[in-house]
Amino acid sequence: MAAYSVLITGANRGIGLELVRQITETQRPLSKVFACCRDPDGPKAQELRALAEKHPDIIMVIRMDVADPKSIQQAALQVGSVVGKSGVNVVINNAAVAFYGPLCESTAEQMAISYSTNVVGPMVVMQEFLPYLRAAAKAHGKPGMSCRKAAVINVSTLGSSIERAKDHYDRFRLVPYRASKAALNMLNMCASLELQKDDVLCVLLHPGWVRTELGGPNAVLDAQESVQGMLKVMESLSEKNNGALLDYNGDTIPW
Ligand SMILES: NC(=O)c1ccc[n+]([C@@H]2O[C@H](COP(=O)([O-])OP(=O)(O)OC[C@H]3O[C@@H](n4cnc5c(N)ncnc54)[C@H](OP(=O)(O)O)[C@@H]3O)[C@@H](O)[C@H]2O)c1
Repeated sequence: MAAYSVLITGANRGIGLELVRQITETQRPLSKVFACCRDPDGPKAQELRALAEKHPDIIMVIRMDVADPKSIQQAALQVGSVVGKSGVNVVINNAAVAFYGPLCESTAEQMAISYSTNVVGPMVVMQEFLPYLRAAAKAHGKPGMSCRKAAVINVSTLGSSIERAKDHYDRFRLVPYRASKAALNMLNMCASLELQKDDVLCVLLHPGWVRTELGGPNAVLDAQESVQGMLKVMESLSEKNNGALLDYNGDTIPW
């Protein structure tokens, strides 16, 4: 099996950092983990820097603000200069923002920031990294779809489900976040239909309710457990899952 490479956005803390850690420590054969964050030199990236120092041949820390298309373009150029013909096998759109608040307290600015980070960012990341995903699919050469070949994992949430909203809206009143993640779901569906000809798999994954800054201290999972589940699901993905919204156990979440 050829060594594969993974790119993760929002890789400096929370689920993103744990993805970098577990992928680096458990996935083989592995060539590179591109760990993207908006302030690689800042205090919030301390743990990521320490991890990268421990695995200098694998982890490459890349500056990327997903709310700034120019920053995504620059990151893509940097990654492109490293990967060559083998491309990038997996792009994980993990970075996101969430504002807590019901409809009457949510602001237009919060909605705009949520969309630029949680929807526009993933769209531009997919556009800019598509040449490397296509290169990875070509280099792999075998038929079918998988994360070992070429895939985009868009990290969504149970909170994006319109059908399930009635069950838990009272507990999770995050109007801009939920609306932006529902839009991410449609973005992923469109991408899955458009990129199937390139054998680039596009899947939405809900990590569970996880104790991070975004999930809060009352969440039921730690990042380690969530990411173990996510990686297991990612390993099992094939063309049958293209466009799907799955949770970290591999169960389908209704739209
Ligand atoms: N935790 C949960 O319970 C839960 C549940 C469902 C879905 N999710 C999803 O899981 C993913 C990760 O969430 P998390 O719980 O790990 O959240 P988190 O701990 O709050 O981390 C969010 C990450 O996104 C980054 N980020 C935010 N805006 C960014 C920008 N403009 N450019 C680059 N990076 C940016 C943050 O970087 P900075 O340090 O620079 O702010 C941070 O690395 C998100 O997509 C979230 O929606 C989480």
